[in-house]
Amino acid sequence: MHTRNLLSIKDLTRVEAFELLDTAHELSRITDGAIKKLPTLRGRTVVNLFFEDSTRTRLSFEAAAKRLSADVINFSAKGSSVSKGESLKDTAQTLEAMGAELIIIRHGASGSAQRLAESGWIKAHVVNAGDGTHEHPTQALLDAFTIRSHFPAHKTDFQGLRIGIVGDILHSRVARSDALLLTMLGAKVTLIAPPTLIPIGVESWPVNVSYSLDEEIPALDAVMMLRVQSERMDDAFFPTEREYSRDYGLTTERLRALKKSAIIMHPGPMNRGLEISAASADSEQSVILEQVANGVVVRMAVLYLLMGGAPIPTEGVLV
Ligand code: CP
Repeated sequence: MHTRNLLSIKDLTRVEAFELLDTAHELSRITDGAIKKLPTLRGRTVVNLFFEDSTRTRLSFEAAAKRLSADVINFSAKGSSVSKGESLKDTAQTLEAMGAELIIIRHGASGSAQRLAESGWIKAHVVNAGDGTHEHPTQALLDAFTIRSHFPAHKTDFQGLRIGIVGDILHSRVARSDALLLTMLGAKVTLIAPPTLIPIGVESWPVNVSYSLDEEIPALDAVMMLRVQSERMDDAFFPTEREYSRDYGLTTERLRALKKSAIIMHPGPMNRGLEISAASADSEQSVILEQVANGVVVRMAVLYLLMGGAPIPTEGVLV
C-alpha cells in the first residue's frame, strides 16, 4: 500500500483495496487450521488507543495483532490520566515512548485520527478505528470482505451488486466508509433513511438516496442495518421508536421481502427490536457474526500491510 496510515477509505486505491481483501483471504486460509499464529510481526508493538467504548473493533485488533505475534498495549481513556487532563499529544507520545510503532485510535471527535497522524507528534503509523461521525475504514473493509465471500462471482468487481445501507446514516461513520469503499469496488449503494437521518451534503456521496425501505428491499443483494445511535442524538429525529421500527426496521415481515440470496448485515452493536428484529438478526440470511469473525483477518491484513511485516508463511507455524 502506498499509504503509511489508514485514516479514511480515501487513503486506498481500488487496486489496493482488492489487494488488502486478497491478503485477508490468504491470512484467513492459513490461520483457519489448528495453528492460528504467524511470526510476521514478532517484536513489533501495536497500541489500541480507545477514547470511546468498543467491543468488536478493539478486541479484533488485539486478536489480529496477537495472531501476527505483535506485542499489544491496550489503552482506554476511562481509568487513565486523560481524566486528569492529559492531552491526546501527551498520551500518544507517552505510548510511543513505550515502543508503539502503530497506534489504533478510536475517538469521539471527527478528524482526530488525521490530527494524530499529521500533527508530527509521533512517528508511529495511525489506523482510524472510528472518529466521531466521520469514518470507520476497517469496518468497511470487513464488510466488503464479507460481501465478497458470499458473492464469489464478484471477486474482482462488485458491479451488479445492490447494497442498501439503512437507518441512522447521519450519525454513522460506518455508512460513510462503506459508501466510499463499496462504490469504489463497483457496487450500487442506496442510503435508505428518514430525511432527518440523512446528512447534509449527501449529494457529494457516490450513492442514491431513498426514503422507502419497502420500495428498495426486494432488489437488494445486501441489506446493512445501522444502529440507531441514541447517545449521539440531542434531538428527536423520529416520532417514536415504534414508528421508526415500522418504517425503517428490518422487521420479520420485511425479511420475507428480501431475495433468498440476499445477506443481512449489521456492524453491531444491535438494538434488537428497533432497527432489526431478533428473527432477522438470527435468520439464515444473517451474516452478522461472520462480519465479526472477518474483522480479525481483515485487521491482520491492515496491520501487516502498513507495518511491512516479514513475508506471510504459506501455512501456520508454531511460534
Ligand atoms: N462495529 C463496531 O465498531 O463495533 P464496536 O463499537 O463494538 O467496536
